[in-house]
Amino acid sequence: MRAGPLSGDARVKEAAVAAIRRLGAGSGGSRLTNGSLALHEELEARLAEFLGRPAVMVTSAGYLANLAVGALLGPGDVVIGDRLVHACLIDAVRLGGARLRRYRHNDMDHLERLLAAGDPDAGRMIVTEGMFSTSGNVCDFSTSGNVCDLPGIAKLARTYGARVVMDSAHDAGLLGDAGRGAAEAHGLEEAVDVQTITFSKSFGTIGGAVAGPEEIILYLRHHARSMVFTAALSPACAAAALAALEIVVAEPERRRRLRTAAGRLSGELAGLGYAVVPSDRPVIAVPVGEDLRCFRLWRELFDEGVFTTAMISPGVPPGQALIRVSLTATHTDAQLDRIAAAFAAAGRRAGLLH
Ligand SMILES: Cc1ncc(COP(=O)(O)O)c(C=O)c1O
Repeated sequence: MRAGPLSGDARVKEAAVAAIRRLGAGSGGSRLTNGSLALHEELEARLAEFLGRPAVMVTSAGYLANLAVGALLGPGDVVIGDRLVHACLIDAVRLGGARLRRYRHNDMDHLERLLAAGDPDAGRMIVTEGMFSTSGNVCDFSTSGNVCDLPGIAKLARTYGARVVMDSAHDAGLLGDAGRGAAEAHGLEEAVDVQTITFSKSFGTIGGAVAGPEEIILYLRHHARSMVFTAALSPACAAAALAALEIVVAEPERRRRLRTAAGRLSGELAGLGYAVVPSDRPVIAVPVGEDLRCFRLWRELFDEGVFTTAMISPGVPPGQALIRVSLTATHTDAQLDRIAAAFAAAGRRAGLLH
């Protein structure tokens, strides 16, 4: 079963091919030396417009966009991160030499305790994802769940004078009327100082970006090691991201369809007896438990013609393995039915459903 994310969209593929023909297969060097193309600048300008932020710096991967945040940190600074933030934000803190404290997922009381306990003179940064990928799905913005509690974070950041960095890898292109992500969906974009995105999810290619105030982005261009010491994004990826961005902007019905499809499939999986919380998030986590059982279910699903991702330790805590189902806007109702039927048959064979 081959559903078509934007990476398979003819317009995105054509843009990549045309860029290779015009500009070659590689960028030739770092943005700061000989790797900068007008295409990068065009992409940055369009992304800034899309995200509603003054400036954007494009990086060669989403991982590198988050790693760039490390350049804003130094010894003496404290970063307080949601326990479920992606590894790249943790690596950014290490690279910046700051101290890392972690609060329980979306637990604002815990976040406040950590903020209150720290040195009031230290620079403080709160890091969160806009929408968490592998944690439990909770669709109500007002409760703890897999969309960050931005109202709570914004309030605490104001009270304790902390900066807020949001990794929108999973929510940009999906949440919010304009698709700008979780902060837009919450109506709190100004509460986020720096937003990072990746092109490897909603934007159908590879690459990433950091968005924020002009002075921060200018500083990062010259100081972020993941920008300075690596080759610029390839022309093909830059052109593909630009084409995907135009589609995200022009075709909001895609994200509406995606959310409807996710609601339907997650509801069906819950109805079958899986511990799935029905939600309109397109990354559906199906808790399984032990790694071996997870591999078994993954294999049974594969044999049924359904490709999923087995998330095992260290991607998730030991004993909490899960199957991750990633939907796209082009999955049809017939395909959703087939996926649900495959989960029913595979779950019985794997001994998970009776
Ligand atoms: C939350 C989050 N941030 C960042 C990244 C890194 O993005 P990329 O794969 O573009 O390097 C990922 C990738 O899985 C992610 O899930």
